[in-house]
Amino acid sequence: MTDRPAIVLVLGDITQQHTDVIVNAANSSLLGGGGVDGAIHRKGGPAVLAACRALRAGHYGRGLPTGRAVATTAGDLAARWVVHTVGPVHSTEEDRSELLASCYAESLRVAAELGAETVAFPAVSTGVYHWPMEDAARIAIRTVRAEATAPLREIRFVLFDTAAYAVFALALAEADATGR
Ligand code: APR
Repeated sequence: MTDRPAIVLVLGDITQQHTDVIVNAANSSLLGGGGVDGAIHRKGGPAVLAACRALRAGHYGRGLPTGRAVATTAGDLAARWVVHTVGPVHSTEEDRSELLASCYAESLRVAAELGAETVAFPAVSTGVYHWPMEDAARIAIRTVRAEATAPLREIRFVLFDTAAYAVFALALAEADATGR
């Protein structure tokens, strides 16, 4: 019996997922944006933004740093929590891979601490933050395989288009083949 959580790829909208945790590709302000962030706040409703505002009024007065993760209510989403994480903007001058890996590791840590068993991730940083999908998929899958622990039992990557799905599928197959 391996206790390693299952990694599942889904083609679709992350706001439609029925998982304990839905991970948001947020920005440091935690006050919303476009892409995944916009969709989660639209679908999650005002309770999500109110919880984010409370975080900004408290422990995260200066915003959520890149690579970190924090949980709020999921509001009207079919999840118990939203875990907000801030991805790095891709740079050709500086290798920020560790910050992107940290988004996945920290989101898993927060989710496991909450007692979550199922988590849905978007492809963090691959939209507005311009991270190349192939490299993001490799980092995401390698980190989740290494970091996911009990009680997590299913980690879902929810890809918004077939091109992203194909890239993640290849990265997952390569990880399975090489054991990394
Ligand atoms: N479900 C799943 N995936 C989605 C959805 C959705 N509803 N909407 C967009 N995506 C995909 C995008 O196609 C991209 O591959 O999620 C990936 C991440 O894209 P962004 O949401 O742009 O996130 P990111 O690149 O991390 O940039 C974060 O964008 O929206 C703002 O406030 C946010 O400033 C922050 C920045």
